[in-house]
Amino acid sequence: MSMKDLAPANVRGISPYVPGKPISETARELGLKEADILKMASNENPLGSSPKAIAALRGALETLAYYPDGAGFDLKAVISRVFGVKPENLVLGNGSNDVLELSARSFLTRDDSVVFARHAFMVYPLVTQAIGARSIEVPTRGFETDIDALVAAVRPDTKMLFVANPNNPTGTFTPWNDLRSLLERVSPRVLVVLDEAYGEYLPPELRSPALEWIARFPNLIVSRTLSKAYGLAGLRVGFAIAHPEVAELMNRVRQPFNVNQLAMVAACAALEDFDFIEKSRSVNAAGLVQIGAGVARLGLEVIPSRTNFITIRVGAAAKIYERLLAAGVIVRPLAGYGMPEHLRVTVGTAEQNARFLASLEAALAAP
Ligand SMILES: Cc1ncc(COP(=O)(O)O)c(C=O)c1O
Repeated sequence: MSMKDLAPANVRGISPYVPGKPISETARELGLKEADILKMASNENPLGSSPKAIAALRGALETLAYYPDGAGFDLKAVISRVFGVKPENLVLGNGSNDVLELSARSFLTRDDSVVFARHAFMVYPLVTQAIGARSIEVPTRGFETDIDALVAAVRPDTKMLFVANPNNPTGTFTPWNDLRSLLERVSPRVLVVLDEAYGEYLPPELRSPALEWIARFPNLIVSRTLSKAYGLAGLRVGFAIAHPEVAELMNRVRQPFNVNQLAMVAACAALEDFDFIEKSRSVNAAGLVQIGAGVARLGLEVIPSRTNFITIRVGAAAKIYERLLAAGVIVRPLAGYGMPEHLRVTVGTAEQNARFLASLEAALAAP
C-alpha cells in the first residue's frame, strides 16, 4: 500500500503550486552569488518594504514571546480607517492566499461547483480541488476575462465564483461596470470572491468601487494583500472585506493566530505609508512603459497590463526562460497556466528592467 492511497482522490489529484524560483536555489544551481541574481518572477516589490513598516518591526521584537492578538484588533482598526469599512467586515489572512482558501473552506462542499476563468490565478482551482468541489474553467476572450461567459457558466450547483481584477498571470483589467453587472446577474447564493491583489497599481481613475457594493451584495468577498505594493510578501498578510455574516463565518473557520505578531505590526504601519504606496505605483507605471517599449523594439507582443508584471509572448518560452536563468534573471514561465508561449516578468526598478531587456535581447538572439 502507498500512503498516497489514504488520501481522498481530490487530494491525490492536486497539482502542486509552483512558485517563482527562489534566488538562493538559482544561485546554488548556477554557482552565482545571490547578489548577482535578479528575481522578477513573483510580483514582489522592487523597492523593498515600506520604511515605516521596517521601523515598526524593529520596535516589536521584544513582544515575540507572546501570542498575537487573535482578533487582530489593531490591524482591523487601521484597515477600517483606510478602507472605510467596519471591523466586523474583516477577515485577516496569512497572505491573501489564506483568504482565498478560507472562502472555499467556509462555504464549499464536495457537491458544489466553482466558476473561474481560464488563465486565472492558480490558487482558485487548487483550493477548489482541496475541498473536492468541481472546477468550471471558463474560456477567456483573447486573454481578457469574459464576464458574460462567467455568468453563463454558473449552474444550479455553483456556490462560488472567483474573479481577479486585475488578473494574474495576464495582467488584464476588467471594467468595474462589467463586474457590477456580474454581481447583478448571478444568484445571491453564489459567493463572488473578487481578488484585488494588484488593486494599488491601478491609476486613480480606475480604483475599485467594490467596497461600496458590499452592502448591496452580501455574497461579495473582496480579497486584498500587503504582498505587492506594500512590499510585505515575506511576512504574509492579506484580508477579506465582506458582509458581516460572511466575515463571521470565515472567522470561525480561520486558525486563531493565522496572522503573526510581526506581520500585523508591519501591516499597521504599511497601510498608512501613503508615500511608499504612491512611489511603488509610480515606479511601477514607469517600469511598465519602459518594459513595454523595450519589448516592442524587440518585435514581441505583450498583453496590456494594469499590474506590477507584464506578460510577453516570446514563442519558445521554455528555452528563453532557461537562457534568462543562465544569465541570472529569473522570470515566470506560464505553461502551467496554459500559456506555453508566454513569460511573465515582474516590473523592477529602471536598472533592473534594463538588465532584463538586455538579457532578453541576448536570449532571443542566441543560436
Ligand atoms: C491574483 C492573486 N491573488 C492572490 C495572490 C496571493 O498573494 P498573497 O498570498 O501573497 O497575498 C497573488 C499572488 O501572486 C495573486 O497574483
